[in-house]
Amino acid sequence: MATLALDATAVEKLVSAAAAAPSIHNTQPWHYRPRPETATLEVRAARERAVPDTDPGGRALHISVGAAVFNLHTAARHLGWSPEVRLLPDPAEPDLLAAVRLDARSAAALPATDELYQAIWHRHTIRTPFTGPPVPAALLDELVEAARAEDATLYLPSPEETHRLLELTAEAERRSTTDPARSAESRSWIQGPGSEPYGIPASALGPQDSAGQLPMRDFAALRPAEHIPAAPFEAEPCITVLATDHDRPADWLRTGMALEHVLLLATVHQVRASLLHQAMEWPYLRWSTRDPERGPGHVQMLIRLGYGPEGAATPRLPVSRVLDTDT
Ligand SMILES: Cc1cc2nc3c(=O)[nH]c(=O)nc-3n(C[C@H](O)[C@H](O)[C@H](O)COP(=O)(O)O)c2cc1C
Repeated sequence: MATLALDATAVEKLVSAAAAAPSIHNTQPWHYRPRPETATLEVRAARERAVPDTDPGGRALHISVGAAVFNLHTAARHLGWSPEVRLLPDPAEPDLLAAVRLDARSAAALPATDELYQAIWHRHTIRTPFTGPPVPAALLDELVEAARAEDATLYLPSPEETHRLLELTAEAERRSTTDPARSAESRSWIQGPGSEPYGIPASALGPQDSAGQLPMRDFAALRPAEHIPAAPFEAEPCITVLATDHDRPADWLRTGMALEHVLLLATVHQVRASLLHQAMEWPYLRWSTRDPERGPGHVQMLIRLGYGPEGAATPRLPVSRVLDTDT
């Protein structure tokens, strides 16, 4: 029976789960501060690991932290709490992104929580071609509901709209790889052996689509074309769109929570995912990703789904390096 005290062991478990979340360029832009006097775990932005050229407004940082908050919430429920999440709890402290209160025991354990908790340790971004059958419509419906549970919208564009979104992503990719500051920033997050445990290891970089349809992010930005490995990707990619009604920091955090809920549920069903965020990083292109037929809304992320080989885990900072103990 798990203990309900917010002691060092519990904090370690909660923070490990939070830190397994996806983050832009694997920056892990978070740190955690336990407040035992209020039975609260605070989640703060780690600005020292931001990507200011790629993400000047901090939107992607908030999405990354939102994903970590979802993992923290899931882990807390798995351990027997009924956690209460407050986003941006103190307007005077904009870098205090969330406070998770852990003073109540949950009345009953939900099986879905345990499945999502186990998926935290198996979810990876997969940048290789998907090879399996189409993702079943019933599962896509479940993913739509998972996003809705976090106050976001997940939708499936038509094949024509998918094509248009991928064209916008390709244009963003062209801009990012030819922008000196952004390409230098992206390259600086590729990690070699013996590097710090953040950033993208070379083993996690995938090929480019030999058909030119799926513009996977070229983290190495403009390495000589002949050195870019290419492989055929799925001809009819399953691209889903994650959007919110508004576009404020709280919406970005909710986007991250919805993103992680969708990714973990997909993982439970052995569905792999990769993210196509490039078009979101150029304001005009991001604006153009809106589908006028759907009415107002702000596109936050494209999620590519499918079946394929399992990928490898990317490194994470040890808990001791993301945990604040000085209060
Ligand atoms: C806001 C955000 C944007 C991301 N954008 C991309 C992207 O455009 N292309 C990509 O391949 N991965 C993208 N990722 C995935 C991260 O690179 C990945 O989560 C990180 O490297 C950690 O690896 P993992 O997801 O396998 O744990 C993004 C993640 C987040 C949270």
